[in-house]
Amino acid sequence: MKPVSLLAFPASTLAGSVLWSGIFNSSATVADFDDWSWSNQIEPWQWYIHGSDNTSEYLGLSSSYKNPAASDAQGLRTTIDGTSYWEGQTMERTELIPQTTSDLGSGHLYYHFSLSTSSTNPPNATYEHQIAFFESHFTELQYGTASGSSGSDNTLRWNAGGTTHWSVQLEAGNWYNFAYDIDFTNQKVGLWASNGSEVLTEVVSPVSASASSNSADWHVGVLRLAGSGVNDDAKEDWFWSGVYVEEGELTTAIGEGSSSSSSSSSSSSASSGSSSAEATTAAAAAAASAAAVQTTAASTPTEVVAVQSSSSSSSISTSTSTSSTATTAVTTPTASSIIATPTAVATTTAATAAGSSLPVPTTAAEILDDVKALLTALLARGGVHARDFAI
Ligand SMILES: *[C@@H]1O[C@H](CO)[C@@H](O)[C@H](O)[C@H]1NC(C)=O
Ligand SMILES: *[C@@H]1O[C@H](CO)[C@@H](O)[C@H](O)[C@H]1NC(C)=O
Ligand SMILES: *[C@@H]1O[C@H](CO)[C@@H](O)[C@H](O)[C@H]1NC(C)=O
Ligand SMILES: *[C@@H]1O[C@H](CO)[C@@H](O)[C@H](O)[C@H]1NC(C)=O
Repeated sequence: MKPVSLLAFPASTLAGSVLWSGIFNSSATVADFDDWSWSNQIEPWQWYIHGSDNTSEYLGLSSSYKNPAASDAQGLRTTIDGTSYWEGQTMERTELIPQTTSDLGSGHLYYHFSLSTSSTNPPNATYEHQIAFFESHFTELQYGTASGSSGSDNTLRWNAGGTTHWSVQLEAGNWYNFAYDIDFTNQKVGLWASNGSEVLTEVVSPVSASASSNSADWHVGVLRLAGSGVNDDAKEDWFWSGVYVEEGELTTAIGEGSSSSSSSSSSSSASSGSSSAEATTAAAAAAASAAAVQTTAASTPTEVVAVQSSSSSSSISTSTSTSSTATTAVTTPTASSIIATPTAVATTTAATAAGSSLPVPTTAAEILDDVKALLTALLARGGVHARDFAI
């Protein structure tokens, strides 16, 4: 029956279920990142791979930093510059890593993110950049001239096991949407991609890969190799939105993070009170807290850094042994204060659509009216495409 398939629609706004979400709501602030430390491993982000300046030099949150097609409240700016040396390395690095108790390294998962650059603080195409990479580099994006080569290369490329399978010329202002299609079970990785508000399409069908993750080694950010020349200290900005890890079916629509996440935040508001108080404190003491983060990071024994010297091969090890820290029990009550995820939104919508809060229709005409109202409401939501409807 048509009404049945219509009512089944809401579940298809998000095809799978969200294991972890790094989507920013409207109350997220840069000071929140500094609340994370090795002794306070709060979800959803680990923040320790960065230079010696204040966090606000390296990270920014703003509604203007997101893909306009995404319903995230805010997007993320990551910046590298001549101060972005972490732990005495020669690479410039600004990287966030998921903090979660979920298993992000098993089964068949989709790692979603959207990426953009601007003509202000654009990336320098003479350096090799590693972007959204795993520590083993079984899959990653790269930009710029491969380390060991010379010249300027404006190519944004997707690599699996060091081989480029897809590439595009980077255009400032364009939003590139991606989902890494990672089958940990069968050791394969593929790529889905789109531009702007378009739905994701498969651009590389899965290839063999040594896929693995300890759930704390996906680097959402940028690592720029020093190259052979003189280091250029100019700022480079990269923008991110729609970062989440999905299990099950792939959601191809962009923007399923949903601004309506506020509707599902009520359950977490009770527990978020204390963390916003902490955030305020952290903001007031930004310098001290930034210094503390540095100190903590420097003294953490788990950060054994094995950097091999670079070659034209893209599989340069930037490993940080975070595995042991990843197993440290998270003792803070963060599970309940996690950002409202696409799942939560979809579930809310589904529950509503399933009629739990609607009067039960009894006649065919009433059913039709309900369906029309639902359809209108759904079409009015951002990010919902008519083609998603199974009419
Ligand atoms: C995005 O647009 C560029 C042209 O600007 C094109 O080369 C590329 O194939 C598009 N990407 C996808 C995934 O369609
Ligand atoms: C990129 O870096 C190179 C090498 O340091 C430098 O000579 C060049 O001026 C930089 N280009 C831009 C556009 O900043
Ligand atoms: C870091 O933040 C503190 C407090 O806001 C400020 O006084 C200091 O100048 C900042 N440091 C840098 C390098 O911007
Ligand atoms: C916004 O996100 C933060 C970080 O995950 C969370 O602690 C907070 O509860 C959220 N606030 C709202 C209003 O959803």
